[in-house]
Amino acid sequence: MLWTIFLLLSGLLTLLLLYSTRTRQNNEPPLDKGVLPWLGHALEFSKDAAKFLGRMKDRHGDIFTVRVAGIYLTVLLDPNSFDAVMNDTVFLDFTRIRNKLLQRVFGLQLPCIKPQAERKWMEQHFQGVSLSKLSSSMSAHLHSLLLRNQKEFNPSEWRQDGLFSLCYSLLFRAGYLTMFERRDDASAVYEEFRKFDDLLAKLARGSLKRGESKTADSCRGRLWELLSPKRLSGGSGSNSWQQSYRGFLQDEGVDGEMQKRALLLQLWTTQCNAGPAAFWLLGFLLTHPEAMEAVKSEIRGLRDTNQQHPAAITLLEAHSTPVLDSALSETLRLTAAVMINREVVQDKTLLMAGGRRYHLRKGDRVCLFPFLSPQMDPQIHQEPQIFKYDRFLNPDSTVKDEFYKDGKKLKYSTMPWGAGSSICVGKQFAVTAIKQFVFLLLTNLDLEMCDPEAKLPPVNPSRYGFGMLQPDGDLQVSFRLKRTPRAMKLRADVKTQRRKS
Ligand code: HEM
Repeated sequence: MLWTIFLLLSGLLTLLLLYSTRTRQNNEPPLDKGVLPWLGHALEFSKDAAKFLGRMKDRHGDIFTVRVAGIYLTVLLDPNSFDAVMNDTVFLDFTRIRNKLLQRVFGLQLPCIKPQAERKWMEQHFQGVSLSKLSSSMSAHLHSLLLRNQKEFNPSEWRQDGLFSLCYSLLFRAGYLTMFERRDDASAVYEEFRKFDDLLAKLARGSLKRGESKTADSCRGRLWELLSPKRLSGGSGSNSWQQSYRGFLQDEGVDGEMQKRALLLQLWTTQCNAGPAAFWLLGFLLTHPEAMEAVKSEIRGLRDTNQQHPAAITLLEAHSTPVLDSALSETLRLTAAVMINREVVQDKTLLMAGGRRYHLRKGDRVCLFPFLSPQMDPQIHQEPQIFKYDRFLNPDSTVKDEFYKDGKKLKYSTMPWGAGSSICVGKQFAVTAIKQFVFLLLTNLDLEMCDPEAKLPPVNPSRYGFGMLQPDGDLQVSFRLKRTPRAMKLRADVKTQRRKS
């Protein structure tokens, strides 16, 4: 017994030494192992990845390798060289990393699914002909949830709420009702989802405390239950998205339990980003009056020329909105922070855009973090910390999409949707939904900050790497229905609904 323990301990010690004695070879990126054996920079990385990687960038330049909890991670921050990583499916792989994450966060095992087949299925459901059906349904749900929201109150009374809660709650519920074709108000799913979402970063890093672990398990279990086919089948038509998704999983050989769990993954993928994005957009507009005025003036223009079709979806489909589009792109530049990770499955030579070559070792990982560059890179975007609503607008009101680094025009000047083979499938749907939402709020509500001097809350630094950032705190706003003809119609609808209920 003692011998076994001794052998185990010395094995562990040898492994630890082997890992901590790695040295940089001539043709490899700069190596920064950090002072802690095995852990390396793990603590700093999980606390605030943007701050840590920014410091490493200042020290080592646009490519370097850091040790994070036993993993050697090569971080590439030159957007002109991103394609060398994203287009490589032979030496680099993302399925194993993804599968590990799915197991850890969603208790989900889908090893038999072919990523291309899954992606094709998703494209069929979120793009092309499906897109306009989804967008109309989303618009109808947003409208009716906003009505219901006002129903319990006198519509002309001012109400107060946190802007983040307001945006997340409305967009989540409308998105859920659209995708899962339900008729309830989705509040129970939303409440449980928010608790789960709050623990997501810790779940992914495996750093939950004891009590949190219990909460995460119970939220997951409750959400599996709420989303389970038994409950959902009542409200869904036979062609619903979730039924079709289960059919797809079944064909791929996924068992019933995993099919149930996969619905939570889909709920998270499709609903966790739009609400926070709408919050930041409205938050930036409220705290930048000249931007708010420019967007409102563009929206007024749409309504003036098209009184006969006042529905948001029709107006936004029929007209281009370059100012709103630019404000949204600028918002996403400042607050979308995906990390694109790959595992090196064979030793690889990485050829950078400037001609430098680096050897990457099998077993290491490569990570692109577009938030630092291109999005917050001062060489690409002047004064990158500042919100400029017209940053993506040319003087002739066309979309500005030419940005340069080192004199070279960039293919990727901002990357909120990821890129390459894993680029967001729901991009078009998300853009339409966020624009519909902002249009609906600005045309029907008087919306003000409770404190006119208030600033946007800072970002929660633990969320870097998980898509849209979330605020640490909220921005208190007050709102009431407007007295315009359009809002009066909404008000009349509220009264009719009140009488009926
Ligand atoms: C502001 C809103 C959104 C942002 C910023 C966003 C961003 C992203 C990003 C960065 C990825 C790639 C993740 C990676 O490379 O690991 C992704 C994937 C995905 N997104 Fe979005 N997303 C948004 C909204 C939506 C919506 C509303 C839907 C659904 C209708 C959606 C559906 C998907 C799907 C299905 C994938 C997985 C694609 C794959 O695995 O190949 N997204 N999204």
